[in-house]
Amino acid sequence: MNRRTPLAPAPAPVLGLAVAIGLTATLALTGCSSGGGSSEQPELSVSSAYMPQPVSDLAAGFLVITNKGGGADKLTSVTGDLSDDITIHKTENQKMMEVTSFDIPAGGELDLERGGSHIMFMDIKRRPQQGENVNIELHFEKGDPIAVELPVKETTYNPAQQ
Ligand code: CU
Repeated sequence: MNRRTPLAPAPAPVLGLAVAIGLTATLALTGCSSGGGSSEQPELSVSSAYMPQPVSDLAAGFLVITNKGGGADKLTSVTGDLSDDITIHKTENQKMMEVTSFDIPAGGELDLERGGSHIMFMDIKRRPQQGENVNIELHFEKGDPIAVELPVKETTYNPAQQ
């Protein structure tokens, strides 16, 4: 019953063929709909940005980057006048680690949220207070830089819990 016959490997080539056909169809579809030639470009927008009021010379920034375009992009760096040392961090097992980029999938989003990935400001030059805005600029692999204002919220602010 469970002995494999020489025919058993057949599903693999069939699957491969199906994938190849699917790929061709996708390419053809993309070709059709790319009238403006921009369908494979990322189309980024930023929302839910904030900075918890810092209590030391460290600060963190959170935001959501939505990509409505047909092409993926990457967040590669962040700059701003609050700090000369701004990096992007992920959190694993409650430890944060610097990364070189974050993926922003086509038709998807990148969430930088409390307890997870975030923007890290080291040696901040001043301590912004609740109600102020901190200006930063997001840099991407493909898309143009985006200027963002981070409203400073209370230190414990977490929109996910409201
Ligand atoms: Cu960090």
